[in-house]
Amino acid sequence: MADLLADLEPVGRDGGTGGFRRYAWTRDDHELGSWFEAECAARGLAVTEDRAGNQWAWWGDPDATPGRAVVAGSHLDSVPDGGAFDGPLGVVSALLAVDRLRSRGFVPARPIGIARFVDEEGARFGVACAGSRLITGKLAADRALGLADADGITLAEALRSAGRRPDDLGPDPQALARIGTFVELHVEQGKGLIDLDAPVGVGSDIWPHGRWRFDFPGVADHAGTTALADRSDALLGLARLVLAARTAAERNGCLATVGKTRVQPGGVNAIPSAATAWLDARGSAEEAVRAALADLTASAAADGGVITEESWTPVTRFDRDLATRLATLLGGVDQPAPVLGTGAGHDAGILARAGIPTAMIFVRNPTGVSHSPAEHAEPDDCEAGVDALAAVLADLASDS
Ligand code: GLV
Ligand code: MN
Ligand code: MN
Repeated sequence: MADLLADLEPVGRDGGTGGFRRYAWTRDDHELGSWFEAECAARGLAVTEDRAGNQWAWWGDPDATPGRAVVAGSHLDSVPDGGAFDGPLGVVSALLAVDRLRSRGFVPARPIGIARFVDEEGARFGVACAGSRLITGKLAADRALGLADADGITLAEALRSAGRRPDDLGPDPQALARIGTFVELHVEQGKGLIDLDAPVGVGSDIWPHGRWRFDFPGVADHAGTTALADRSDALLGLARLVLAARTAAERNGCLATVGKTRVQPGGVNAIPSAATAWLDARGSAEEAVRAALADLTASAAADGGVITEESWTPVTRFDRDLATRLATLLGGVDQPAPVLGTGAGHDAGILARAGIPTAMIFVRNPTGVSHSPAEHAEPDDCEAGVDALAAVLADLASDS
């Protein structure tokens, strides 16, 4: 585990923060994909790509018995200044779980796959889980291709620069039809397992969550010569939105965060002519998130703000029987492993919403911190995660 994570460490590393900036369809992303392919090749696993560029490595032939493969995996991209575990832990654990099964002489009755999803965080183009949303048809190719990054480069252009054909993008029912069960192992992004004193747990559900863009208008003018009364300052509306988000979240019992903004023209001595804020809102209840959003829409409208929904994912409940099976397998009948929910989104959630029996295994996070260079998981807990994933793959792939 340490060696595999160390292999990835130089990729997209930010020297200043110690975090990672691994964005979709960049040179770093290409390196991550090549690393995945090489690790799979070293294990004799053939890698295929679907129409969104997600990678699938196969132990056994998934087309010989369609709809029966047991697949484990996650993503390798990161948020800005992300940690080492969110994503990579799931991919590395899947590789190690396969090693473990093989070293025991396990012979799967079903094909076993390892998946690496592209663009899970949406850090560059704004839509999270873009790879899994595309193949499941939850994100239309036309819309995806027009998404632009902070430099105005569209996904279509980024794909071309990466030597790919944008026209290939689209739903991929054939890739999905191979999967009988999908299991994503992930570092926990909260403190649930600390409180439960357990190294691993099983996912029950993902909170409803979404992303919205707020555009505020203004008029550029001189900061030293324009009277306060004569100004139309776009950033004032944005500032009020940031504070309103906190209030709306508190009032409605959900979470709301403005973590990304853009101010134009961006000169210290120019009154902002346009300001854009991206809001992330989530909660255990959809009504609470929608009520907070209604508050924010009203407050932004008073400042001339225009709101655009960039993504929305309703509550996702993982297959209950599968979760119970995993919890019992990992903890025993008398003391099953804990089953817990999360506010974090995952490709597993997108596949579950597409009707694929899906489960998640969480590995304890000793601080609960994630989406930060400080994200951590103890080596013993990571090992427990690999043990758990190997046990789950063996169990699921033994069914004839
Ligand atoms: C993905 O990590 C998300 O929940 O934003
Ligand atoms: Mn993440
Ligand atoms: Mn993740």
